Amino acid sequence: MTDSEDGTSPDERVNSGEEQTNDEALDMTLRPKRITDFIGQEKLKENVGIAISAAQKRKEPLDHLLFYGPPGLGKTTLAHIIAAEMSVSVRVTSGPAIERAGDLAAILTNLQEHDVLFIDEIHRLPRAAEEVLYPAMEDFALDIVLGKGPGARSVRLSVPRFTLVGATTRYAMLSAPLRDRFGAVFRLDFYDEKAITAIVGRNAALLDVPIETGGEEEIAKRSRGTPRVANRLLRRVRDYAQVKADGTITGAIAREAMERLDIDALGLDEVDHKVLRTIIEKFDGGPVGIETIAASISEESDTIMDVYEPYLMQVGFLQRTPRGRVATRHAYAHLGIEAPAQLQGQMFD
Ligand SMILES: Nc1ncnc2c1ncn2[C@@H]1O[C@H](COP(=O)(O)OP(=O)(O)OP(=O)(O)O)[C@@H](O)[C@H]1O
Ligand SMILES: [Mg+2]
Repeated sequence: MTDSEDGTSPDERVNSGEEQTNDEALDMTLRPKRITDFIGQEKLKENVGIAISAAQKRKEPLDHLLFYGPPGLGKTTLAHIIAAEMSVSVRVTSGPAIERAGDLAAILTNLQEHDVLFIDEIHRLPRAAEEVLYPAMEDFALDIVLGKGPGARSVRLSVPRFTLVGATTRYAMLSAPLRDRFGAVFRLDFYDEKAITAIVGRNAALLDVPIETGGEEEIAKRSRGTPRVANRLLRRVRDYAQVKADGTITGAIAREAMERLDIDALGLDEVDHKVLRTIIEKFDGGPVGIETIAASISEESDTIMDVYEPYLMQVGFLQRTPRGRVATRHAYAHLGIEAPAQLQGQMFD
């Protein structure tokens, strides 16, 4: 694959929900700071809001909360918002950053009462660290083993009463004992078009970019229900509007810009197309295993599972079956390929 003419490397695909190098600065500017700025996910927002108010009334730390869902939907944002709403500090770390149990013990003992500890990618926490978390979450205690062999004894230290906010793209990879220790588990879904349109509008205003309703809608339609993708597209379309037009993002300008980025009307890019074409053309529509698909298109199977597959399933192009992935008749239709007879009458959606 060659770099596209706008200089984007193939690894920096504009419409993947995964975090990319330029995102961080943009994410910081555009990240909603309070729960009232957080658009969409109404039910989740309400439930989190209730939990926060209740904890504040009782003057207790908030329950441990777990957020899961595809990348770029707002898990990290929510962790920061929760800390802001509770008027406490947030300590940010991630599963892979914690190598040993001692790393986590050190973090825990340095927290202040009611602080939020945010552990991103919590499914990648090493086993030994996970075991440190259990008593910490349950009893705000740390069990330390002193000495070795028959003389070893365990002492219990207390840690400040904190709130653990965990985030993961892989709920199924979390161990049951860890899952059970969260007071509430929230699943983030893809945003509907209305919410994404509102996010594009809000962020265009924050970035001082003139945009017409048509432009907001065109970007929203191709954002895969993902705020991070919406932000990235907005930035790319802004550049295009400034270079090729007078800077205002109209519907037509947005469409043109995204056609040049090879993003189709549903927001699918080259990789989505490759995934679907591989299943259809090389494996007769499936079922085919994810590893086989990954090998055929030289992608990481994790990336396909986390980033591409959830949205392809959401739009009804792909199904997961026990024997592997299957392309649906909608996928054939979208790619303009004639579906085999047995799929044509099929009613599944
Ligand atoms: N509800 C929202 N309203 C407005 N903007 C949002 C919302 N949710 C997310 N965003 C924007 O999307 C960006 C990405 O969100 P965030 O970093 O919280 O995603 P994430 O779920 O933590 O992703 P990852 O799984 O990759 O860590 C934020 O910086 C913010 O600009
Ligand atoms: Mg995050």
